[in-house]
Amino acid sequence: LSQTGLVILLAYGGWLVIQGRIPLGTGLVVFAGMLQQFAGQIANIANIADSLQQSLTAAGRVFEILDAPVEIRNPANPVPLARARGEVEFRDVAFGYDGSPSVLSGVSFVATPGSCIALVGATGAGKSALLGLIPRFYDAIAGSVRIDGHDVRDYAVDALRRNIGLVFQESFLFRASIAANIAFGNPDATAEQIERAARTAAAHEFIHRLPKGYDTLLGEGGADLSGGQRQRLAIARALLLEPPILILDDPTAAIDPETEEEILGAMEGAMKGRTTFVVAHRLSTLRRADHILVLDRGRIAERGSHRELMARPEGIYRRTAILQMTDKESRRRIETGDTEETA
Ligand SMILES: Nc1ncnc2c1ncn2[C@@H]1O[C@H](COP(=O)(O)OP(=O)(O)O)[C@@H](O)[C@H]1O
Ligand SMILES: [Mg+2]
Repeated sequence: LSQTGLVILLAYGGWLVIQGRIPLGTGLVVFAGMLQQFAGQIANIANIADSLQQSLTAAGRVFEILDAPVEIRNPANPVPLARARGEVEFRDVAFGYDGSPSVLSGVSFVATPGSCIALVGATGAGKSALLGLIPRFYDAIAGSVRIDGHDVRDYAVDALRRNIGLVFQESFLFRASIAANIAFGNPDATAEQIERAARTAAAHEFIHRLPKGYDTLLGEGGADLSGGQRQRLAIARALLLEPPILILDDPTAAIDPETEEEILGAMEGAMKGRTTFVVAHRLSTLRRADHILVLDRGRIAERGSHRELMARPEGIYRRTAILQMTDKESRRRIETGDTEETA
């Protein structure tokens, strides 16, 4: 971690405390813990970013993700975890940012290795909170989240997180080469690993067409990428370590419907052979999911396959969840009652 980088990060942390974005006390402890835990990634940001503004933006994004309300502790004697099989179980999980079960309660389900679980529900229903419990951005206040039969709190945090690939609504890219952006978090990745991840994420084609390929610089003065291309790089980044568990929290939300199609193709490749959680807004994604969880104010209101849920005329999925589908094709199909056949 370079001197300048550290100064920027500490100043930024202090500023967040002053702004009330992270609380004094636990907030500072979490901040210090993050500096330590993510030293690798933070060093990357500091090295890659070549202007103060760039550092602040990058750090801001990282802290949004890591801005945890409680201290995440490593267990004294962690259960060894090299590569998880990918079974994810929630057992009567409750969660709230204030310590009361205000955000999630009574959440139970089992995701078998390699299955695809789609989450639907209104904004604020708790989808992101639920997903954040898996890599321990926060801990449950009751019940347990289990991977391969052990509570996630029994694993070393870094071992746990190495098994989980994450893609969010918007992705941060650095002013660095495309290769470095994909290898974010694992600077030792080989060119082969980077290309394999890009191929799976359906990004290799467009990268290859750029004059400088993987060496193309992004950011100011560098190549301008479309929203769909940015998200495909983010998916490649999430796939770099071949994680057995993949979390796609609304990766197409900030994308216009035309480019959404490119990302959906990338998502399909990415999901293969992994336990995948996806916050979905499209019928095509929901139809393909093995299991759909409908969240309503922090509870699982309904569950089942698309077909099963559509068969319940008074069900919340059929009545409301599906009306939130954002894309034109989904809307047309809902209006004409044609939600079954594959697109
Ligand atoms: N950092 C936070 N502090 C306090 N409350 C939060 C925070 N983030 C989200 N919430 C609240 O938690 C609830 C669940 O939010 P979220 O998991 O983001 O829902 P979804 O992803 O389904 O839109 C909402 O009521 C939201 O306002
Ligand atoms: Mg969300």
